[in-house]
Amino acid sequence: MRKDFLPFARPSIGEDAISDVADCIRSGWLVMGARTARFEESFSHYTGARYALAVNSATAGLHCAMMALGIGAGDEVITTPMTFAATVNAVILTGAKPVFADIDRDTLCITPENIERAVTKKTKAVIPVHFAGMPCDMDRIEAIADAHGLAVVEDAAHALGAEYRGRRIGAGRGPRRLAVFSFHPTKNITTGEGGMVCTQDEELAEKIMMLRQNGMSKGAWNRYAAKGRADYDIFFPGLKYTMTDMQAAIGNSQMRLLESFNRRRDEIVSFYMSELSGLPGIILPKPAPWPHKHSWHIFTPLIDRDAAGFSRDEFMLRMRERNIGTALHYRALHLYSCYREITGASRGSLPEAEYVSDRIVSLPLFPAMTDEDAEDVVSAVKEICSL
Ligand SMILES: Cc1ncc(COP(=O)(O)O)c(C=O)c1O
Repeated sequence: MRKDFLPFARPSIGEDAISDVADCIRSGWLVMGARTARFEESFSHYTGARYALAVNSATAGLHCAMMALGIGAGDEVITTPMTFAATVNAVILTGAKPVFADIDRDTLCITPENIERAVTKKTKAVIPVHFAGMPCDMDRIEAIADAHGLAVVEDAAHALGAEYRGRRIGAGRGPRRLAVFSFHPTKNITTGEGGMVCTQDEELAEKIMMLRQNGMSKGAWNRYAAKGRADYDIFFPGLKYTMTDMQAAIGNSQMRLLESFNRRRDEIVSFYMSELSGLPGIILPKPAPWPHKHSWHIFTPLIDRDAAGFSRDEFMLRMRERNIGTALHYRALHLYSCYREITGASRGSLPEAEYVSDRIVSLPLFPAMTDEDAEDVVSAVKEICSL
């Protein structure tokens, strides 16, 4: 058994990032300055988005997206129950109602058919979540959105580096389309906390620039820099969702490492796929039929209790006894009291999400994992399956 505990995720932050954070602090310019501008530029270049706007979390980015789209009381927004609470909290806190549409149990993504079925006269937007880094079937989702005049906000928290039909997630496709990324410490890159909103839509981008800064029409860089102008106006109330330059300093270093991080994630997943295939009760992730590149934020097999002889929760405990961390992404949101009350969905309403929710587990996956770490995970799973 391993001597030390292997967590399910751990960030890799280079010495260059640490020293640039120190330089940033010494410089005296701590918020929304040159380092944030550089981070936004490199993100826009990488994703192909015309605008990449840094915020202090994906939660903040999703909230800004909802507010910028003018979503509020009386509106409905369709999304998946297999996501983190942030996706629906951003909807609920505008006064709108989230409506859950079921997923496909192979890709773990929301399906176009279920979105279509959930559309009503009140629907204003759809939030597909690229689960684990698997891109949703965006052409079909966009076609439904076009047919019903809906906005699309891609929750791309897991999907930095993922591609759909040769296009990078984040590139966006015109008006009322946004994608929101997360830089939480477990994500494909981190800034501690942080997020990015990407769009091609100039009007939405301008609104988000104001919303992230209390509604002010000019950023701090414009107001306080040597050649900036001090005046500004406020057209609507916003919140304080700006990124610090210390976060952006880490982000700039992480962007240089992103491709190598994602390659390493791919290698570990290939190893898991070949070593764990055929084990009784372990259902491995399946690729989507549409052309895509997965960004493997998490690796999430399902534990089928009947075939395995143990439940997902027992599996997690047995991995913990072997000094290996696992995580649960996610318990379907309509199984929590809060969302059950707000949406009216309950156990039985979303059978595919419930099937997955009862069985899913995340195994360790992060770029700094060694081959030995990955072998330890595989040995532990095989041992548990053979008991
Ligand atoms: C699918 C999804 N959406 C949104 C978020 C929120 O991201 P953040 O922690 O950056 O606010 C997360 C974070 O785990 C997530 O997994």
